[in-house]
Amino acid sequence: MNILLREAVRYFCTFAHFSYCNTMNIPESLDLSRLPKHIAIIMDGNGRWAKERGEDRVYGHYEGVVSVRSIVDACGKVGIGYLTLYAFSAENWNRPKAEVDALMELLVNTIRKEVDELKKNNVKLHVIGDFESLPESCKKELNEAREITSSNTGLNLILALSYSSRGEITAATRRIAAKVAKGELSPEDITDAVVEKHLYTSDYPDPELMIRTSGEYRISNFLLYQLAYSELYFSDVHWPDFREPNLYDALINYQQRERRFGKTSEQIQMTKPTEVKGDDE
Ligand code: FPP
Repeated sequence: MNILLREAVRYFCTFAHFSYCNTMNIPESLDLSRLPKHIAIIMDGNGRWAKERGEDRVYGHYEGVVSVRSIVDACGKVGIGYLTLYAFSAENWNRPKAEVDALMELLVNTIRKEVDELKKNNVKLHVIGDFESLPESCKKELNEAREITSSNTGLNLILALSYSSRGEITAATRRIAAKVAKGELSPEDITDAVVEKHLYTSDYPDPELMIRTSGEYRISNFLLYQLAYSELYFSDVHWPDFREPNLYDALINYQQRERRFGKTSEQIQMTKPTEVKGDDE
């Protein structure tokens, strides 16, 4: 597409609602009966995307929101149950104050602008991370959005905000230790299930697919416990360019993998798909 036309479409999509642009057909090669229930995404490359265009990093975050809309819409369209987006890590607080402030403002404005659409599209909003460390304006907006979307039954959109996986595991350990100290739990009763119950993600299944954009091959303190058996998909595309077709590419790639959970390939071939579980080591 001509670069000017492409930029015009990009501009239009930023200010109009993205659903109008999100009209591509689902590829026939995507098997809708074998989708992951839960996709987790590390949305990386906003800064580099902006820098490549001679723009400020914050411009990349704004464009990143358009990709968020595209991916949320596409997940709803194909029937994904859970989508976790790594929107702000605990380590991101160490970025320059102007960028942190811009990201928080963007978050508040996006939630405010999108909440009616989320409600209408049957998306239920959740937040994981150190909620209390967020600015009051963010907490207020997020709480309202969670309340407004609480009865929705479609896609569960989980925003990881001020999130650190090590922090999550440490907090879970502290809560379990407190129960042991009070005599409510004995050390022998601490199973994987008990640990999972104390994580932020206790209400959600583990992600079967984790996507990271922008050509970095790291987990970056994201869902370290929950990703134990996830398929990892790394894309070279910067997040602001990662849209519906890129998601379908990732899903098609996921469907070509053999998930063995510690078993042999022959065992898996003999097992019906419904009998394969993520926690079968
Ligand atoms: C990583 O790119 C991206 C972030 C730290 C922020 C992600 C935020 C958004 C996409 C917008 C807000 C999201 C919602 C859900 C409203 P980077 O800045 O680290 O890029 P770089 O590696 O190229 O510097």
